[in-house]
Amino acid sequence: MNCLPKSDIRESFPILSTVFDDGKKLIYLDNAASTQKPRCVIERLKRFYESENANVSRGAHRLGNIATSEYETARDQIANFIGANPEEMIFTSGTTESINAIVYGWGEENVKKNDEIVVLVSEHHSNFIPWQQLAKRKEAFFKVVSVRRDGTLDLNEFKKAITNRTKVVAIAQVTNTFGVIHPIDEIVEIAHSKGAITVVDGAQSVPHILTNVKEMNADFLAFSGHKMLGPMGIGGLYISKKRIGEMRPFFFGGGMIDRVYNDRTKFANPPQKYEAGTPNVAGAIGLAEAVKFLKKVGMAEILDHERQLLEYSYHKLDGINGLALYGTRDLEKRVGVLSFNIEGVHPHDVATILDFQGVAIRSGHHCAQPFMRYLGIHYTARASFYFYNSVEDVDALTDAIKDVKERFS
Ligand SMILES: Cc1ncc(COP(=O)(O)O)c(C=O)c1O
Repeated sequence: MNCLPKSDIRESFPILSTVFDDGKKLIYLDNAASTQKPRCVIERLKRFYESENANVSRGAHRLGNIATSEYETARDQIANFIGANPEEMIFTSGTTESINAIVYGWGEENVKKNDEIVVLVSEHHSNFIPWQQLAKRKEAFFKVVSVRRDGTLDLNEFKKAITNRTKVVAIAQVTNTFGVIHPIDEIVEIAHSKGAITVVDGAQSVPHILTNVKEMNADFLAFSGHKMLGPMGIGGLYISKKRIGEMRPFFFGGGMIDRVYNDRTKFANPPQKYEAGTPNVAGAIGLAEAVKFLKKVGMAEILDHERQLLEYSYHKLDGINGLALYGTRDLEKRVGVLSFNIEGVHPHDVATILDFQGVAIRSGHHCAQPFMRYLGIHYTARASFYFYNSVEDVDALTDAIKDVKERFS
């Protein structure tokens, strides 16, 4: 199926024409949690299950060969999308599994007592807890570096935190709470200058910013397919050539071996070495289709569109009494995420009332409790845009926020 985005891009996303029983149209502004899927991705999954479904790398039959070939082609395309070589990218279920894979595959072997692991206070729990727990197991230091209240990082403060004992620096390129873009190239350079390895949580950056792992020069990059038009349960982990030899398998079983003897096993070469068991073949193929779609839309255009929506949001929302809007106002440092609070109204109530109008946003701690605690705000409401959102969506958000204000005044 032709994956060219329609001139009206929203028509490519069947779910965006949802009208609820009460006549309210869906205004989907929860893209940082998960994006919607274009018709071509949905059709691709259907085609796989209708005419290509078989396990990969095992059978000698035709279907098995087709499935294997499509799966590996998907790897090529997705690796290419992030500037990696295919053998440097393994499929996982998503960012959480990718980060845990680094912890168990690399961290268990290489992090030692008194080493330091550095994260930012604004990390998502998925890039926080696995490192915190590794530090506990290894008696290493878990260092949590502060950011400014607008979510941006003071590079000088960060620099001070990195020492010769720092073994790992694990940082999200874009925060899921405020959508703040961190200067990842400089962060990687500072970490490497002290001999630390770098782990980039790309869950919120790969879907919005053109990614090139070679230019970024990080050792690892984790991302989730469902946040970039792909199916749920598929994602990737880039492991640089330098680190791939240091990584030991973290799951064992079928599909990852060369020879197995009673007393030992010779493992397959990467990437298969790190993909034990039956992989999510349909998911990988669906994600490759998603990546084709993103390329056609254009990553620069996506970011630009999100920033225009952010700017328009500020134009509409600034000045509303009692409305706190979080995050730096330097839109060059932002993707289309807008966290806010309405004075005197719990964000869960805000989200519920917005839902009365069909406006879907998220509320809560956004899996970033240390950051919320640090800011002293506990929770926020969060609207997050993607390229298929429009100024009309922002208008609907604004009206719904005004409705909340009225109900609680
Ligand atoms: C910055 C960040 N890291 C990690 C994750 C975890 O992603 P997943 O649940 O797809 O594994 C998320 C999800 O919201 C995220 O925003």
